[in-house]
Amino acid sequence: MKTILSFVILFFLALGLNADNGHQLWLRSKSSVPVQVICKKSSETLAIAKQELQQAWQGEAGQTVRLELIRDKQIAGDGFRLSAEGIQATTESGILYGVYELLRRQQTGKKIGEELVNPTWEHRLLNHWDNLDGTVERGYAGLSIFWRAGNDSLAVTEEDLKLWEEYARANASIGINGSVLNNVNASPKILSAAYLSRVKAIADVLRPYGIKAYLSINFASSMVIGGLSTADPLNAEVVDWWKAKAKEIYTLIPDFGGFLVKANSEGQPGPQDFGRNHVDGANLLADALKPHGGLVMWRAFVYNPSDEDRAKQAYNEFMPFDGQFRDNVIIQVKNGPIDFQPREPFSPLFGAMKQTSVMAELQVTQEYLGHSVHLVFLAPMWEEFLHSETWQEGEGSTVARTTDGSLFEQKHTAIAGVANIGLDDNWCGHDFAQANWYAFGRQAWDSSLSSEQIADEWLKLTFNQPAPEEMDAETVLPMEWDLNFLKPVKQMMLNSHEAAVDYMMPLGLHHIFAAHHHYGPGPWWAPKGMRKDWTPPYYHQADTEGIGFDRTASGSDAVSQYHEPLKAHFSNPETCPEALLLWFHHLPWDYQMKNGRTLWDELCYRYDHGVQQVRQFQKIWDQAERYVDPEIFGRVQHKLREQSLNAVEWKDACLLYFQQFSQRAIPYDLERPL
Ligand code: GCU
Repeated sequence: MKTILSFVILFFLALGLNADNGHQLWLRSKSSVPVQVICKKSSETLAIAKQELQQAWQGEAGQTVRLELIRDKQIAGDGFRLSAEGIQATTESGILYGVYELLRRQQTGKKIGEELVNPTWEHRLLNHWDNLDGTVERGYAGLSIFWRAGNDSLAVTEEDLKLWEEYARANASIGINGSVLNNVNASPKILSAAYLSRVKAIADVLRPYGIKAYLSINFASSMVIGGLSTADPLNAEVVDWWKAKAKEIYTLIPDFGGFLVKANSEGQPGPQDFGRNHVDGANLLADALKPHGGLVMWRAFVYNPSDEDRAKQAYNEFMPFDGQFRDNVIIQVKNGPIDFQPREPFSPLFGAMKQTSVMAELQVTQEYLGHSVHLVFLAPMWEEFLHSETWQEGEGSTVARTTDGSLFEQKHTAIAGVANIGLDDNWCGHDFAQANWYAFGRQAWDSSLSSEQIADEWLKLTFNQPAPEEMDAETVLPMEWDLNFLKPVKQMMLNSHEAAVDYMMPLGLHHIFAAHHHYGPGPWWAPKGMRKDWTPPYYHQADTEGIGFDRTASGSDAVSQYHEPLKAHFSNPETCPEALLLWFHHLPWDYQMKNGRTLWDELCYRYDHGVQQVRQFQKIWDQAERYVDPEIFGRVQHKLREQSLNAVEWKDACLLYFQQFSQRAIPYDLERPL
């Protein structure tokens, strides 16, 4: 009997732990005191807002909170006015965002004064690279939350609805208001009636949370599923096909967001296949969506195997079209000119296209940053990018400002992040990858937030310090928690991106990954017959003279795509930021760095520093054990071990490979390659 009882207890304990195993993300807070919510109107969204307050209230017991829909010209889009008494907004989503902000402030111990809070961008989207067979391109957290393989793949189950609702809630809590539900390498099937009915089911769940559904489309859809003989954007039948398709979609989903398009890029069909250009293609779709209020997000991720530096191609291809796109087209540009590398300068298209709406595409999934194995907090990388000075309209023309409508007239403003979400229990594969989902939403809402604040919030919300009334002698005191957990773990997060850059590709090195997986090192990787621009030697250019890609006037001249004084700064190795040195310059191994070391020595020290940093992270995490759910603790500890071994592998592989060219010793005070 006793054994049965203990089994039962163990079972429930396990259930309890399970509830805390990472599935709840940053939404763990439970209220123990009542709150009075007054709201004159009623709707599904407002009901959610009310429920959230009641579930997670941490303020005074019995306090009254008013939720009011008002007219107020100072409130932009889904912004709100926040005060201790309640929230005022002009939209229901504004009320919902205000509620989440109020709760976040309570839970993280921030003051709640009178404040007007407006979002930086109007549209804040996740792009899911989810395939219709349920796999996820560059996804490291299991299968798709939207699509399934097999015969019943389109049946909508109770579990689906529950999962999509949890997903919607998490997004709403950080201000995300759009989801592209399928991969940019889009199957034409997504626009067939059968798939659209599942899209409708998803959109219906997302709607009350203020989230619109969008789809990636395949430019040849009119041929593949429409039975036409062409997808020429200027062909009348093609035009009609897209108009009819848009109408069909909006009949099902009246608030459908629009299309995301990867065209004439990496083998995807596009207008150029029919002798037309990006403007013809984007405007075709824009005209079809316009009567319904939809948007086209047309990607600028284009490059071809040619003698022209890949980093220059998107700019050269898109700049001539500036000013020719319809006002419901936004050109979606990856943060850097190549492809989500551990570090890149910003794409020169930001700020250069002055008569076209431009939006940034960030990558939340860690394709080039250790997948869901490495702990890499991406907020510092995005902060660096968003605050990069483009100089396009003089000082203060940061990348964020070139896209948020404050420098250029843009009918619509937006930002997108490629999602890191899958069916894994903890949503993101790595428990700390949840912080990247969180950070993307927070920075998309407010580009001025610091990485430090975001990490601080996320840690407090996720690893919930115990509320004072729950404390007994056994539990942890808040000050102790701050000192022993919050402070060191936050620092670890804030250092983690730079550490990864150091052990993978420091000083502006880029794309030196092995093969197609984009995970481990492979600076030597150049199989016979492979496209040159898909092999690392194309990017690092190491030879006995030196290393790095000359993008100055003596090389590819990519620097000329940047506005002065940046062009001059990047052109001169003395003024080029050292973090981007080998992105812009091919320099001799003995080139003298600012700290007096030679370039070769500095490279060695950087790689070594990256390794040392990860070892430090392991120590920090081990000391955090007492404050973390054991399951999460074990998972993160295990992954840090793997990251640490990987970091050594990166360092050894790269240094031993480059040493063949440098023909210099690795400084003797550094750890020898294994
Ligand atoms: C990268 C990535 C691809 C993806 C592409 C894109 O090249 O490796 O998987 O399809 O970017 O953004 O379109």
